Amino acid sequence: MSTPLKEKLENTRKNRDLGILELFSIDDLSVNDISLILELAEIFKQSKTEKTDLLKGTTIINAFYEASTRTRTSFEIAGKNLGSDTINISASSSSLSKGESYIDTTETLAALQAKMIILRSSESGLPIFVAKHIPSIVINAGDGSHEHPTQALLDLKTMLDYHKTLKGKKVTIVGDISHSRVFGSLVRILQKFEANIYIVCPETFLPHELNQFNIKLSPSIEDTLPGTDVIYALRVQEERGAKGYIPSLREYSKTYGINPRRFAMANPDAILMHAGPVIRDIDVFSSLMTHKRTKILDMVENGLAVRKSLLWLLCDRRDNKQKSYKII
Ligand code: CP
Repeated sequence: MSTPLKEKLENTRKNRDLGILELFSIDDLSVNDISLILELAEIFKQSKTEKTDLLKGTTIINAFYEASTRTRTSFEIAGKNLGSDTINISASSSSLSKGESYIDTTETLAALQAKMIILRSSESGLPIFVAKHIPSIVINAGDGSHEHPTQALLDLKTMLDYHKTLKGKKVTIVGDISHSRVFGSLVRILQKFEANIYIVCPETFLPHELNQFNIKLSPSIEDTLPGTDVIYALRVQEERGAKGYIPSLREYSKTYGINPRRFAMANPDAILMHAGPVIRDIDVFSSLMTHKRTKILDMVENGLAVRKSLLWLLCDRRDNKQKSYKII
């Protein structure tokens, strides 16, 4: 008989705790924290959607004030598979639409005994701002153009599942860097795991604060792709006004879109990644979506596993540290 899931998880965890109480940025996590999350994620991945009672008696609220398919659904399935009562609220269906403030809304959710609030919003910095007001654990599920830390965790797992290590691997990130929270977390995790990071994009998509990272900028995608182990394409973020920074989507796709010719310029074992949603034939050409080295759906599968791991580790701390909060 195979070892029950709960026992496998406990045996692998070996009483280890994360060094954080909640998650806002990849900067919050040490390499050891990330390794622990990924070790447990692999066990959850093997278990598919097997149910446990690890989070029985907890309430998790997915407060998604901006649209989402992958992140919201995977957090919901993750919570339910772990035995938590998981519910979703959106901006349009909540009293935010009547003018209630974020703080009042979040305090209301905390008063309903939410152990954890998973927050997605178009405002950069909202998760850390509201977290100071409530005892509930807050996870950033994507804030404006700032960060999307659980996306970076699943990105890293997908890269390591295939390449085993990132040390010295060439990762080329192509696209709308300046509006992308996916980039904000990805660049931080790649730097922690010692990848060689290259970025290629129109100059108008370059943010100002890039000098804090060890990255190489390249003006030409054709010059950058040779030797690449991972191509990571970013979506042009129309909802954040990105179209105003390029002549047209057609011109963008001609110069930066990942098509079969460009994919073939990378290493023969290179993988193609995109966080989704993909704008087909702009970011990534349709004919590559089903390529065996295109990892977009593997990323979705890893997202569920990584989020289960994170929910369990954050909800079930063993060192009895309590989150303290203050009204400001
Ligand atoms: N990658 C990602 O965040 O996708 P969703 O917006 O669908 O959650």
